[in-house]
Amino acid sequence: MNKIHTKLKLLTSDLTETIKWFQDHLKESEASVQIYTHLDADGLTSGAILGKALYRERIPFQISVLRQLEREEILKIAEKVQDYNNLVIFSDFGSGQYLELDDKLNNDNKNTPYIILDHHFPQNISDKNDDKIKEIYQNSKPWHINPYFYEIDGSKEISGAGICYFFAKALNENNLDLSPIALIGATGDIQNQGPNNSFTGLNSVILEHATKADLVEMVNDLNFSPIKPINEAIAYSSDINLPGLSGNTSKMLKFLQTLGILMENTEGNIRTLNDFNQEEKQKVSSAIIRYISLKLDVEPSEIVKKLIINRYILKNELVGSELHDLKEFSYLLNSCGRSNNGSLGIAIAMGDRKIAYKNAKKQLIEYKKSLGQALSWIQKENKIQLKEHIQFFFGEEVISENIIGTIASMLIFSKNDIIEKSKPIFGCAKRKEEEVYKISGRAHESIVKKGVNLSEAIREALKLSNLDALGGGHPPAAGTKVPVDKIDVFLENCNKIIKKQLQE
Ligand code: C5P
Ligand code: ZN
Repeated sequence: MNKIHTKLKLLTSDLTETIKWFQDHLKESEASVQIYTHLDADGLTSGAILGKALYRERIPFQISVLRQLEREEILKIAEKVQDYNNLVIFSDFGSGQYLELDDKLNNDNKNTPYIILDHHFPQNISDKNDDKIKEIYQNSKPWHINPYFYEIDGSKEISGAGICYFFAKALNENNLDLSPIALIGATGDIQNQGPNNSFTGLNSVILEHATKADLVEMVNDLNFSPIKPINEAIAYSSDINLPGLSGNTSKMLKFLQTLGILMENTEGNIRTLNDFNQEEKQKVSSAIIRYISLKLDVEPSEIVKKLIINRYILKNELVGSELHDLKEFSYLLNSCGRSNNGSLGIAIAMGDRKIAYKNAKKQLIEYKKSLGQALSWIQKENKIQLKEHIQFFFGEEVISENIIGTIASMLIFSKNDIIEKSKPIFGCAKRKEEEVYKISGRAHESIVKKGVNLSEAIREALKLSNLDALGGGHPPAAGTKVPVDKIDVFLENCNKIIKKQLQE
């Protein structure tokens, strides 16, 4: 048995204990199970998996979507569940607040039974090799499940939805059919980062389940959106740069037309990658490789690594729809969560293909528009500010708290000339109803490899700035909130800590 299967065995055995504990508490509770989950694609799929699994067991439940499990939210939850003795599940967050949850949900008056199914670093831990993880693991059985307990990397090898999937499967083997939903969550958290966008660790085990059940198929394909007009898909690719053509759809169309491929379908619309046959795809890929290697003097083998990827197809979905492709599906869910339509996303992930899907597609258009506007505003107005070791920007009236993290991600993880990737970026969005900034930190893999750990940096900077807000996440992506009058101090402390991390 290889290492990952040994780890999975241990995880599954612990989950069996968790479920026993869950069922025992369920007997004592007459109220519905309260599921609290995060608003991004991983959080929504986590909620959907749990919802489906409980529905199948005829266990009544309610799902609430939160932008983050902040201390104030925990207090509200404590108050809400106190009277009804609800069982609570926290998914895709909760580990980073586990001490806080214990403090607020367990006290002299009341012990609220709850389960944490998460993949973020536990509170006060920011290093996967920290010995204290073992202690937390031992002390939080059976109600806390986290991949780091099993030496599984929660930032790459399994998502919140993945943990919820294994929980669901331990509850009932039939829940194996929820495996594709777990992969959508992992894709939303950009975890398919193995060679050619493959899944690694426990995510690859989930993929195996989904493939064997004939629900998902992996195909080699060009790394462009399969459903956008092809010139647009290539021009706005977040990974492939064709100097002189990228960003310009009409030039891109001309370039493609020289390849002798029919560009329009019978209705006069520009065809999509989905419409292309193998031979046409081959022509496009050869032309792109030739173009980039000439313009940028890059080895063709290096171009191929980015150009040809594993595409994951949901076999039961309509070809050409957002839902046919894991990446597009996760994008749709993310857009729901980030435009305060989390319930639409959960409904779609649970199977709705009618009203919720229709409404989600409508708001997707608005969402894309707001992201595009935000990025060009940052660029045109030179909104990026630099310190020696970090860069940062304020969302002002243009970028709201809900999308500040997405914008920071796009700046760091997508191909663009707007910012340097050698410094982490901190996006700051003023919250409307509170005198605080929501902070989203993002760091490129190249500097994470050199020692940058944003989860740790944010927690240390909070401490150094005498702030007691909760914060953290993963090495390449972490967040928190900071009072308006402390923002300068906080950012300066981030700068110092990143400097230290790079020196060490
Ligand atoms: O909010 P944002 O998207 O910037 O968060 C980046 C990552 O950090 C997410 O995975 C989020 O769940 C995590 N995070 C956290 N605790 C916080 C804020 C963010 O674990 N207080
Ligand atoms: Zn997640």
